[in-house]
Amino acid sequence: MIPLGELLTMEALEADPDPLLARLRAEAPVCWAPALDMWLVTRWDDVEYVEAHPELFTAATEPSFLARTLGQNMLTSDPPELTRIREIMLPPFRAGGRSGEFVSAELPGLADSLIDGFPTGKFDLMTQYAQPLSAQSLALVLGLDEFGFDRMWKWCEGLCTDLANFENDPELAAVGERTKHDLGKALAERLAQGTDDDSAISWFVRHGASAEEVINNVRLMISGGINEPRDGIGLVVWVLLTRPDLRAEIEADPRLMRRLVEEVFRLFSPVGTATRQATADVQLAGTQIRAGDLVAAVLRSANLDEDHWLAPTEIDLHRKQGPHAAFALGAHRCLGEWLGRQEVKVGAERLFAKLPNLRLDSNHKVEVYGFEFRGPRELWVTAGGRS
Ligand code: HEM
Repeated sequence: MIPLGELLTMEALEADPDPLLARLRAEAPVCWAPALDMWLVTRWDDVEYVEAHPELFTAATEPSFLARTLGQNMLTSDPPELTRIREIMLPPFRAGGRSGEFVSAELPGLADSLIDGFPTGKFDLMTQYAQPLSAQSLALVLGLDEFGFDRMWKWCEGLCTDLANFENDPELAAVGERTKHDLGKALAERLAQGTDDDSAISWFVRHGASAEEVINNVRLMISGGINEPRDGIGLVVWVLLTRPDLRAEIEADPRLMRRLVEEVFRLFSPVGTATRQATADVQLAGTQIRAGDLVAAVLRSANLDEDHWLAPTEIDLHRKQGPHAAFALGAHRCLGEWLGRQEVKVGAERLFAKLPNLRLDSNHKVEVYGFEFRGPRELWVTAGGRS
């Protein structure tokens, strides 16, 4: 029989991770994956332990995909350095900052204008809606709207290609390098134009971030802050289109949309792992990890752990347990979680309010794909009549 670790290829994990992760939780909760050159940690308690101990599991990994693709940034550092930059960069992403203003004053109108521009007949909702909505939202909050949605999306795609390059394919690394350079140049130009507006970038500068810190961390935001809300919007819409029972529950009590968004984030975990490096020899769940080994805390698997959740594979709008780990659990908990949740919630609400007859196109099978970044590849729909 093939040892379990040998089955853990990127290809297999990207196509259908859940059966493999369930086997890992049951048989080898801390498992070496030779193809990925790292340990996979799959039970909730162990994922939580890795996240809670940055002194044992550092984010400043060596080598680092993140530092290579983005330059040193908050996700390649540990407390206390991390604390300073997060304190500078978090406020614009909170309800009381630029994101709050954006969500109440601009987001519904942005969603509506995209919906009004949908083509007639069949179309892919990911490219016509989820993608532009998340790219334009982040561009408006950061103060990068002058570059246009297409360029924002290309930057995101280019960076993510390299960030998910666990097997170190040199062609994918070259895509990342080109994107890093192009985006760095555009951000330097943006900074040269001045920072006296209400954008998040101007906030960072006015609160003490250096140009290099702004550039590298905005690269991080573009790689993480577009792809994930995009996948979140696609997944929530897909669930609602395939589960009329959930849709009816939400129509009867619209406050449940917030619960659906949380359950979808838990069940699908658009970001699969938090990757760290052991700083010392350490035992985890009875397995010896050596100093220097890379360790992926598999957030997706923690979110499905049968020992932590009741009926983990079901969407339960009245679930009492929480929180989930889709935005991570430790010092690097997602900086944009408030904004990301709002994009997904408002994006889905506006879509169903304006297009009550939205339907999946039965000629296109929906393929949910990816491990480090997971979401529908495409979501073909027909709009039906507008309300
Ligand atoms: C809505 C879907 C989103 C999901 C599921 C998500 C998930 C995550 C996760 C799991 C992490 C931790 C990664 C790790 O520890 O290795 C993270 C970090 C981060 N996210 Fe998000 N994210 C989302 C949206 C956003 C948005 C909209 C932004 C916009 C700026 C953003 C910016 C960041 C940043 C800057 C970090 C690094 C925080 C740090 O290192 O301290 N994310 N995100």
